[in-house]
Amino acid sequence: MWRRLHSTLARCVVFDKTGPPTQVLSVRDVPLPPLTRRSVHLGMLAFPINPADINQVEGVYPIRAHRLDSEPALHVGGNEGVARVLAVGDEAAAHVQPGDWVLPATPASGTWRTDMMVDYTQIVRLPRHEALTLLQAATLSVNPCTAYRMLKDFVDLAPGEVVLQNGANSAVGQAVTQIAHAWGLHTLNVIRDRPDFDQVAQQLKSIGADCVIRDTEMRSAETQQWLQSVAGSQPPRLALNGVGGKSAQNLARLLGVGGTIVTYGAMSRQPFMFPASAFIFNDLRARGFWMSRWTEERVAGRDAAKQAMLGDLVEMMRQGQLAGPRAELTTWGDEADAAASLACFMGAVQKAGSSMAGKKQVVLVAAHQSASSE
Ligand SMILES: NC(=O)c1ccc[n+]([C@@H]2O[C@H](COP(=O)([O-])OP(=O)(O)OC[C@H]3O[C@@H](n4cnc5c(N)ncnc54)[C@H](OP(=O)(O)O)[C@@H]3O)[C@@H](O)[C@H]2O)c1
Repeated sequence: MWRRLHSTLARCVVFDKTGPPTQVLSVRDVPLPPLTRRSVHLGMLAFPINPADINQVEGVYPIRAHRLDSEPALHVGGNEGVARVLAVGDEAAAHVQPGDWVLPATPASGTWRTDMMVDYTQIVRLPRHEALTLLQAATLSVNPCTAYRMLKDFVDLAPGEVVLQNGANSAVGQAVTQIAHAWGLHTLNVIRDRPDFDQVAQQLKSIGADCVIRDTEMRSAETQQWLQSVAGSQPPRLALNGVGGKSAQNLARLLGVGGTIVTYGAMSRQPFMFPASAFIFNDLRARGFWMSRWTEERVAGRDAAKQAMLGDLVEMMRQGQLAGPRAELTTWGDEADAAASLACFMGAVQKAGSSMAGKKQVVLVAAHQSASSE
């Protein structure tokens, strides 16, 4: 109903100062600018609430959120999601067509809204979207791409080798496990201890995890035995660290000579110290990865490497090798007023920030859901 009455408005989740999401987020209905020759009217279909999105609202992320052209004091949250093209200007029509599914080409696109008007260079057309679920498409451009790059760009791995990772039940971790499995690699997956450890471990094994251990078991004899039985004479050469603290330190200890640990997240918010022995006796290499930088360096995401990566990931999804993350869906955007709309959205934000939540919070935009199945 809201949509039909206000089709020239976009409902947006905004903030005018940074801070805790519960204190600074609000919902505003803002007019959409008119369509121009270069512009594309997008109807957002779905978007996730990722840790980086929350960090951006809190003001502890290096890239600032999208600023609304019509009200520059307002920032719109959200860095990824999938949208459907609703209308295109004459020049934009050479690049996308109504009905196409598109992803933002760069971070800080402000995906937490129902509609947006963008220049055609700010989006990437999603190839063969018919084969994908909304969940897969909405969560494709950050976490699976991060997993793909970290498995490809740091160590030239051969099938049969073992990759180590902590935070293995995160969306990045689930993508790492599945891509590694599809490429013939084994994974040793570390998660925090929890009451439902066996159930979570089983879920990770069902998507291809070879071994799942508690963070308290990283230095156990059983872990060493498993590594020796699988890795044999080729000790692990790549570890992926999304947690930090003690967990990162213990991952580094499990690497072989010349091994590389790639840090991409710091969910524990704890600093980490690598053991001197790992550097001296094992020539440890400690690197970092940030998908946003990789994307920025590639001409707004339109270069061949980005297209090839998206093509590979979509193909894995089509072949059933790469599912979307475990997720909880919230339908949002057609509430009667801004207060009800904010309450609905905040329900998802609060679950996204809770400890051992187990599921990625993904928002489906109510106004465009019928279009998504066309
Ligand atoms: N560098 C990059 O380019 C890049 C790209 C994508 C994501 N990231 C980062 O990667 C991390 C994971 O992102 P995501 O979207 O995959 O996350 P997610 O699906 O929301 O999962 C969050 C993960 O963090 C773990 N976690 C939460 N609090 C923790 C704590 N205090 N100590 C240890 N682990 C904790 C959770 O484990 P429990 O189940 O035990 O709570 C879960 O595994 C984030 O830090 C994100 O910013 C970085």
